[in-house]
Amino acid sequence: MFKIAVLISGGGTNLQYIIDSINRNYLNCSIECVISDRKDAYGLERAKNNDIDTHYIDRKYTEKSVSDRILEIIDGKVDLIVLAGFLSILEGEILRKFKNKIINIHPSLIPSFCGKGMYGIKVHEKAIEYGVKVSGCTVHFVDEGTDTGPIIIQKAVPVYSYDTAEKLQARVLEEEHNILVEAIKYISEGKIEIIGRKVKISSICN
Ligand code: GAR
Repeated sequence: MFKIAVLISGGGTNLQYIIDSINRNYLNCSIECVISDRKDAYGLERAKNNDIDTHYIDRKYTEKSVSDRILEIIDGKVDLIVLAGFLSILEGEILRKFKNKIINIHPSLIPSFCGKGMYGIKVHEKAIEYGVKVSGCTVHFVDEGTDTGPIIIQKAVPVYSYDTAEKLQARVLEEEHNILVEAIKYISEGKIEIIGRKVKISSICN
């Protein structure tokens, strides 16, 4: 069975969608643990409600030791790390040990509205401020940069003149749930090939 760890910082709707996809046998995976860098993240409750092992890592640690602590928890136990709204930046050994085995969901069409400090509602505020007509979400592999790794799947959504950041966020989030689960499915089924910056998914014309 393909084993994953899910890292969260907030409400965990993406985590919930992964759990639901496993429960309805769409994903042939098991979530070995959910790790949060926020004690009050509601995603931890979602995990507990589904008998998934949970861990909280205090952000008082430096970024490096947050990464090292995560590595201690998961090393040798999982095939893939899924960042589902996880706001700490991973660095150091974990990136080497899990090269091409960490994926992240970001709420914009990378390379727009991404990078350090761009997360959550801020991303949608910037998209609306800029006046883009299309936004969306991206699942990508995690490398040493922030939101710079090879792109696996993107999905676009329209941006309307009357949109608020919250309305756009809700529209994008719906698509996030779908593409994150799709990416996990492709990876767990061995359908992904990385050629330089390009990600090829077998069985899809791309
Ligand atoms: C999601 O919109 C995700 O794309 C975003 O945090 C939200 C978490 O929602 N992540 C980032 O902005 C990372 N740069 P959730 O807790 O309901 O899954």
